[in-house]
Amino acid sequence: MIYLDNAATSFPKPEGVYTALDHFARHTLANPGRAGHKMALAAEHTLDDARHRLNRFFGGVRPDRWIFTLNCTDALNMAFKGVLNDGDHVITTDLEHNSVSRPLVAMAESGRITLTRIAADGGGTVDPAAIQAAFTPKTRLVAITHGSNVLGTVQPIAEIGKLVRGRDALFLVDAAQTAGVIPIDVQATCIDLLAFPGHKSLFGPTGTGALYVGTRATVRPWREGGTGGDSSTPTQPKEFPYYLEGGTPNVLGVAGLVAGLNFVEERGPEAILHHELELCDRLRMALAEMPGFEVFGHGNPTGRVGTVSFRCEVMPASDLGAILDQSFDIAIRPGLHCAPYVHKAVGSYPDGLARVSPGPFSTVAEIDTLIEALKEVTGGI
Ligand code: ALA
Repeated sequence: MIYLDNAATSFPKPEGVYTALDHFARHTLANPGRAGHKMALAAEHTLDDARHRLNRFFGGVRPDRWIFTLNCTDALNMAFKGVLNDGDHVITTDLEHNSVSRPLVAMAESGRITLTRIAADGGGTVDPAAIQAAFTPKTRLVAITHGSNVLGTVQPIAEIGKLVRGRDALFLVDAAQTAGVIPIDVQATCIDLLAFPGHKSLFGPTGTGALYVGTRATVRPWREGGTGGDSSTPTQPKEFPYYLEGGTPNVLGVAGLVAGLNFVEERGPEAILHHELELCDRLRMALAEMPGFEVFGHGNPTGRVGTVSFRCEVMPASDLGAILDQSFDIAIRPGLHCAPYVHKAVGSYPDGLARVSPGPFSTVAEIDTLIEALKEVTGGI
């Protein structure tokens, strides 16, 4: 199998992740914070260590502001449902994944918030001036994806963060496609809420993610329940991170996430991104020479993550994806990528596009095999 669907989840994981998961599951998989015995304390220590690591990696204010979640969607829901109040205005963009769009549209449709969706340019970049112009006196939150999961374009979050802070609103960044490959400093970029999955470019297992909650954001708990530690209070204890972390956490997954972060720090986000972009550029150049293919999104070598989305004139993306899988053993992701607004904006709705996303272990030979398969499928038209 040639796996080129790393934008959905990274595979394979670095060897250290498999080792850490196996070791943790055999020796440390107790319930963190729920008892004082050695295994529970070791499990709790794993969570604490992970919070420290994330805080250092992303430049947070304090380790206890990193809340473990099930995935990025879970983190985003925790943020939206926790910070928004009736009557608030929210600014977002047409690049967003449904994990941002659906909760916000549902809140808007129920009359709780008003929502403005800014259009990116045709290549997939949002103009900070358009965000500035959309502010109203009720704007409380700007929620934007850092890297488009369809076009791969990276948004100017430092510039946007500064202007959002200047308007005294909260700034939420969905780092689903960038955490681990594009350096993010939450304090320097004025991010109040950072949501990311652990299972993409941080190389942890599925079922992991986190929400960073900066000190300007007041978040009501969305998942209430047992926290270990203080069981006496009738409602959620106010102490972070427990305030937002009801229920047994995925401590096994977090152990894997820390091992994934080790890999990222050892290899370096820049080196990982450079490798992925080289493979993407090889594919982009080949597609540009092949009749019947159209690549979407800005092609500039900076300001992108390793994702190439394209249309094949002779067949819908879903058929192309199925043929590549069944006949060539190549995994890509065709369709709308849970991001219908961007497909509408670039004219690829409702069929969607074929998306290829290599990872750090993908090779030139694999991309060349894909290129040959595409030529064969389309008969060299
Ligand atoms: N959001 C993931 C993707 O883009 C699942 O494929």
